[in-house]
Amino acid sequence: MELDWGLGEYELTAARLAPAAGAVVDAAELEVGEVVVDVGCGTGNASIAAAERGAVVTGVDPAERLLAVGTERVRDRFAEQVRFVKGDAAALPMADGSADAVISVFGMIFAPDPAAAIRECVRVTAPGGRIVFSAWTPTGPLHRFNGAIFEYMRTALGGPEPEQGFRWHHPDDLGPVFAEHGFKGEVTPAKLIFTAASIDEFTSEQGRHPMAIGGTAALSALPDGEAKLAGLEALITERINEVNEDPLAFQMTADYVIITAAPEA
Ligand SMILES: C[S@@+](CC[C@H](N)C(=O)[O-])C[C@H]1O[C@@H](n2cnc3c(N)ncnc32)[C@H](O)[C@@H]1O
Repeated sequence: MELDWGLGEYELTAARLAPAAGAVVDAAELEVGEVVVDVGCGTGNASIAAAERGAVVTGVDPAERLLAVGTERVRDRFAEQVRFVKGDAAALPMADGSADAVISVFGMIFAPDPAAAIRECVRVTAPGGRIVFSAWTPTGPLHRFNGAIFEYMRTALGGPEPEQGFRWHHPDDLGPVFAEHGFKGEVTPAKLIFTAASIDEFTSEQGRHPMAIGGTAALSALPDGEAKLAGLEALITERINEVNEDPLAFQMTADYVIITAAPEA
């Protein structure tokens, strides 16, 4: 099932991911006037963080609604410095060697062909440039929570047993692909903490995520859709209580990594 990231209210999630955008941009060590490409830019968190450090940024994403939100966000502050264009990680709409830094905050990891996405990021990186991106890790409370939901959806929709895909967080998978292009990378662990006044507040917000909207529509279309939706709701309630780290409100830790890759010296 192809996901339309323009569905629902991704903006709510973008606000939660903003600290990761800051961390990726910090890791890119941008200098004023540098040219940056933000792959899978969504509503522009990392593009804006890069512009705040003086970079000239192009945000690329397939989701037109999110690009429109990004364009509105930069209109008054960074209209001269940031532009958003429709595109895919596997076919970036920019010239070879045109970017001092290619950055991505949980964006390029959604490209269906990881090798093609990495090849494109390398292609547009200028000599001496760097690629910096974030990827989720299969550890910690967020992973346990999402893993349970994905497994429920897969079973309900009759999807195949998941095969081990490309591990965007893992040096064993990243190393050989980057090495093919003469790049070498480093993987640094990081954490995001999601908080809310209550479990209900968090779950109702998550219900506006594009994946939740798309998943709910897919379950509703099943002959026993109502029962499947009720089952999903029960699972979410059970699992969110299990992962909640704050008995008086809501807190969940999300593990991720920041990957920094550059041409081998
Ligand atoms: C989790 S969101 C991250 C958005 C943004 N970077 C942020 O930090 O809020 C994932 C983004 O990847 C984009 N995306 C999905 N498939 C993509 C692809 N093949 N190439 C580039 N971006 C893609 C989605 O449209 C979405 O905006």
